[in-house]
Amino acid sequence: MASACATASDPARSAGAAIDAAAFRHALGHFCSGVVIVTAAGPEGLAGFTCQSFFSLSLSPPLIAFSPAISSTSYPRIRSAGAFCINILAEDQAELCARFSRSGTDKWSETGWRQGDTGSPVLDGVLSAIECRIVDERETGDHYLVIGEVVRLHTQGGRPLLCFSGATARIAGDCPTS
Ligand SMILES: Cc1cc2nc3c(=O)[nH]c(=O)nc-3n(C[C@H](O)[C@H](O)[C@H](O)COP(=O)(O)O)c2cc1C
Repeated sequence: MASACATASDPARSAGAAIDAAAFRHALGHFCSGVVIVTAAGPEGLAGFTCQSFFSLSLSPPLIAFSPAISSTSYPRIRSAGAFCINILAEDQAELCARFSRSGTDKWSETGWRQGDTGSPVLDGVLSAIECRIVDERETGDHYLVIGEVVRLHTQGGRPLLCFSGATARIAGDCPTS
């Protein structure tokens, strides 16, 4: 007799039919994290977008990963550059966070930055900037999973900008700042 429960091998479940998109966003929005801006300078000029899907992947070798939407107009330009910089935002950079989340707008004329060793923009005032070269990319659902090998670190420290439930936030109390 067939089970009433879907299983991992059920085609309907693997197609995502059992999970409502709004419920998915609501549940996943409860994951609190920092926020980064991924930047690059490629043949088509400067590119950058706000990104929450960043994580440390491996220490030896030093690898990190992030997930740009397949619909992102910035990611193809980052891919063409072959290198990028992960800029970890400080608590006073909510406006910068919003600026780099607006597709098709001028993200750069009001943004302070300097060129890193890979040519990628290192944004002013960020807690850390992690320069990487792209070593792997795979298509996963409606996003790519991009893996970068870390080639240069710039660390300033300070208090982080947080992302929670679709909004930015700050840590209210004491937190380490080094
Ligand atoms: C806090 C926050 C986190 C985001 N995280 C991601 C992410 O992980 N991946 C992604 O593709 N877009 C993410 N976005 C949306 C992109 O920043 C936005 O779609 C982007 O600017 C796309 O523009 P583009 O067409 O210039 O690439 C995030 C936006 C915000 C405000």
